[in-house]
Amino acid sequence: MDTEIQGRAAHVAAIRERAEAEMKAMGIDEAFIDHLVETFYGRILQHPTLGPVFDAKLAGRWPEHMQKMKSFWSSVAFRSGAYGGKPVQAHTGVANMTPDLFPQWLALFSETLTDIAPNPEAKAWFMATAERIARSLTLSLFYNPALDDPQRKPA
Ligand code: HEM
Repeated sequence: MDTEIQGRAAHVAAIRERAEAEMKAMGIDEAFIDHLVETFYGRILQHPTLGPVFDAKLAGRWPEHMQKMKSFWSSVAFRSGAYGGKPVQAHTGVANMTPDLFPQWLALFSETLTDIAPNPEAKAWFMATAERIARSLTLSLFYNPALDDPQRKPA
């Protein structure tokens, strides 16, 4: 039993070490994640369609949201386990949430990374990760079998 637990702990530690090395090679560290979250949500608030949707839900709670998003990205990048929330549930309570907001979110994230990412590899990593999560959130929130068309190309 002990060896099984030790084996699992070693496995988790190995995954974490590999993630840290991979991020370090791309110049991604906690300071960059901090800067990215601050810059991106600053721009979200200025955005004509995304801004009001976010602010309607987060007015008075922005500092808490920023902290949550930093620990979310840090968990994804470094496999740190720092974030333990439920993203799908969090988005079900957002008023005026529509599928077309996701491409706008991704476009703004991409622009932000073009401006501040340390290099193209770092930008590509954040975009691939965000696109995967956006696709999965879109399916969880809006999947409708009546509209499912296997011939349709992804947006
Ligand atoms: C159009 C797209 C989106 C909108 C309008 C949106 C809006 C929001 C809002 C208003 C919250 C705060 C919920 C609350 O605390 O009551 C939230 C939380 C969150 N969002 Fe989004 N979001 C979008 C896309 C995304 C994407 C693409 C990601 C990931 C890459 C993401 C990750 C998260 C996470 C991790 C949280 C925190 C969930 C928690 O409470 O643990 N969101 N979002």
